[in-house]
Amino acid sequence: MSKTFYIETFGCQMNAHDSEKVVGTLEQQGYAQVQDEADAGLILYNTCSIRDKAEQKVFHRLNEYKKLQGEGKKFAVIGCVAQQEGEKIFDKAPYVSIVAGSASYRNLPGMLDRLERGDSRITGLDDKKTTETFETPFVARTNPHRGYITIIEGCDKFCAYCVVPYTRGNERSRTAASVMEEATRMADAGFTEIQLLGQNVNSYRDPSGKMTFAELLQAVGTIPGIRRVRFTTSHPRDFTKDIVDVIDATPTLCDHIHLPVQSGSSRILKAMAREYTREWYLERIAWMKAAKRDLSLTSDIIVGFPGETDADLEDTATLLDVVGYDAIFAFKFSPRPNTPAEHLADSLSDEVKSARLQILLDRQREIQRINYDRHLGQVMEVMVEGYNKARNQIIGRSSQNKTVNFTTTQLIMPATGTYHQVRITQTFPNSLVGEALAAPGRVQ
Ligand code: SAH
Ligand code: SF4
Ligand code: F3S
Repeated sequence: MSKTFYIETFGCQMNAHDSEKVVGTLEQQGYAQVQDEADAGLILYNTCSIRDKAEQKVFHRLNEYKKLQGEGKKFAVIGCVAQQEGEKIFDKAPYVSIVAGSASYRNLPGMLDRLERGDSRITGLDDKKTTETFETPFVARTNPHRGYITIIEGCDKFCAYCVVPYTRGNERSRTAASVMEEATRMADAGFTEIQLLGQNVNSYRDPSGKMTFAELLQAVGTIPGIRRVRFTTSHPRDFTKDIVDVIDATPTLCDHIHLPVQSGSSRILKAMAREYTREWYLERIAWMKAAKRDLSLTSDIIVGFPGETDADLEDTATLLDVVGYDAIFAFKFSPRPNTPAEHLADSLSDEVKSARLQILLDRQREIQRINYDRHLGQVMEVMVEGYNKARNQIIGRSSQNKTVNFTTTQLIMPATGTYHQVRITQTFPNSLVGEALAAPGRVQ
């Protein structure tokens, strides 16, 4: 087998960042990444299992890999579907050599050694109860300006619909010292934005007991060179007021909180085992609205959970109005293997779920039109992410995580990762348009 690899990644930000760590680990073991699977000796498939018959899609894709088997290529299935389906993957796709869930990645070097010795059916599936996290100095970061740090892995919440506690194992945090060390190294390497990650990032508990989550946010935010700190995803149950206070006190912490509500109906929240009510959630939103900073709020919503009535849906719709989110990610409920909701009567047809989803999306679009319109004439700091050549615009992002497309009168295009003051001249429900102000002290 040639020591080259190709990796394909699906799923959430944590999965994307896992892949950065897996790539770093492989490179450390002497493997070189290639961008075309035809050139690879080892093909890795980092899978997601959150919705929509994910496992079927994985097996379908593995069928396509079958053709490549004759070329001497090896295959590894990792991530959430790997953990969920386990050794069944070998039975259905015998040409796969490694099946490993994310709780086992720290053992990857050993798995690779076994692969090179010609072993087959190599598994990393038994670590779901581990208290260890996957910490490695070898991270192949894909963005040179914005870097991710997983501070807490796994999930212990067991919401009725969700596979994550089964696929990612126990909730376990890294020490604050280790997070600070990585963040400082990244700042020294030129990163200006850090995103702290966890399925429930604010459930963070420093194993050494030195820092609360809010204190860690502040500590990362005061590392010299760091201009923006984001964190995702927060869970309402563990959302404490000191998080809002620390955002108010620390300018580098971004003006954005993603706090998934899932439903606006306390009855459905109970059935989902979210362990909070609409009122509890709205109390946390009230803290955010009382902040000195203009905090942008976003959420995830599930429509069509078993037993959801029109009245429950209306509760979610009114919650959208009350909170006034800047974005929502809304999904139709899909029954997932091993979860308590898997066997609840999935009584609503796909048509009903789609219609309900559309009701919420239409309502939300109107809310966003008004929210984004508020920014007209404002000046905001924008970090450059790329360029839209066709429209001759620079693409960037505000502290609130809004997309800002802007133009400049400067002759030299601003580099990606640089920050600019931009005046907003036009607004849409999902993006803003503006013009860069002249750099201070420069004559245009
Ligand atoms: N830990 C986070 C995010 C979990 S997964 C949280 O608790 O909020 C991301 C989103 O996928 C969830 O917020 C939820 O809206 C959605 N999701 C999870 N399981 C789902 C399912 N079975 N059907 C539909 N959507 C689901
Ligand atoms: Fe899934 Fe709930 Fe855990 Fe989020 S908190 S990952 S929705 S079980
Ligand atoms: Fe998917 Fe696993 Fe993330 S199921 S959303 S990759 S935690």
